[in-house]
Amino acid sequence: MTAPKSTPKSTPKSTPKIAPTRHAEPIVVPVALAERAYDIVIGRGLIGSLGARIKTLRPGAKVAIVTDETVAKHHLAACEAALKSAGIESSAIVVPPGEGSKDFTTFATVCEAIIAARIERGDIVVALGGGVIGDLAGFAAASARRGLDFVQVPTSLLAQVDSSVGGKTGINSRHGKNLVGAFHQPILVIADTALLDTLPKREFRAGYAEVAKYGLLGDAAFFTWLEANWQEVFAGAPAREHAIAVCCRGKAAIVARDERETGERALLNLGHTFGHALEAGAGFSQRLLHGEAVALGTALAFEFSARKGLIGADVAARARAHLAAAGLPTHLKDVPGGVPGIDALMDLIAQDKKVKRGKLTFILVRGIGQAFIENDVDPAQVRAFLAGQLSG
Ligand code: NAD
Ligand code: GLY
Repeated sequence: MTAPKSTPKSTPKSTPKIAPTRHAEPIVVPVALAERAYDIVIGRGLIGSLGARIKTLRPGAKVAIVTDETVAKHHLAACEAALKSAGIESSAIVVPPGEGSKDFTTFATVCEAIIAARIERGDIVVALGGGVIGDLAGFAAASARRGLDFVQVPTSLLAQVDSSVGGKTGINSRHGKNLVGAFHQPILVIADTALLDTLPKREFRAGYAEVAKYGLLGDAAFFTWLEANWQEVFAGAPAREHAIAVCCRGKAAIVARDERETGERALLNLGHTFGHALEAGAGFSQRLLHGEAVALGTALAFEFSARKGLIGADVAARARAHLAAAGLPTHLKDVPGGVPGIDALMDLIAQDKKVKRGKLTFILVRGIGQAFIENDVDPAQVRAFLAGQLSG
């Protein structure tokens, strides 16, 4: 195996555009969770190995593939063929694409279909899709027959770097995002980077917000590398696999230390308190994709940190400039159709899971790569900040 060039510990801003060398073998990132440990396997063309890998982990298991109509059109046949070639019987459960499928109705449909397909304990649910499918199928796997094993085959950039790893599964409530769910770890994640070739550019870009997030929250050298190499990551060069692996290693390390988000895992929510409110405000629609909301929320989290005197305005400007260079929204005015007014935004923020006894929890920063959890944010301060952003 050809080792990637590791991300330098302290890279100057003028890092030359050097992509890591092509990986001849898949990159394997272990998630060290004792009896729930699993591997994230990253590389081009891996879907063909899905059946053999499942057969090794669970000999004799049947499979229900949960996917959406769009992903099914592009990749279901390859998934089914890979299972068939390993002698694995499978059935497919196909739901409509989009955030709307993370609802109670679709959840019930998927659970009923898994049971109807006679997927028993010892069998496998495969989540073939983006974060919506991973969250929905994972929660169905956690619930049907009181818990089935599942395998994540993430097909969006966002899912490959974030949602397929760590075991958060769930659906939305009419009160807000991800409010009903379970922690349920997959037994394997197969991130086939070739599947991203069919992902629309806008969706890729939205997923890139979560890539930048890992640098911004805890890895300044990776953020500097991204500033120099983000176009190669978009182009699909080996830089893409390297970036996905860095993100997965970062997330796997945090999840191994804090699986249930009693502490440091909350750092992964950088940009999400503002972001979830804006996403809900846009009706979870195509007006503002999840990753776009995270980009905007991250720019606001940096700006808010600057307003609180934690960082200089130049640091907030640097974070915003990178997200904007990648084509992501970073100002409230960038949201097509506008954002809700201040009262509605504050209500949405209060509905978020990050509120305790009237105080808000925000992930703030003391610099690039230096995020921390602030549990005691005064809602009045947030209100004044957002009012300023709305009028500016
Ligand atoms: P998504 O699953 O809706 O996928 C985006 C769109 O791209 C969909 O229309 C889908 O059909 C399409 N698509 C996916 N892969 C494709 C491919 N290879 N080719 C062509 N089209 C493809 O959304 P997403 O951005 O992947 O994920 C967002 C969701 O993930 C949100 O619901 C968010 O809450 C969740 N999320 C969960 C976690 C977690 O830890 N569980 C973390 C981050 C985000
Ligand atoms: N995406 C946040 C988490 O997995 O904790």
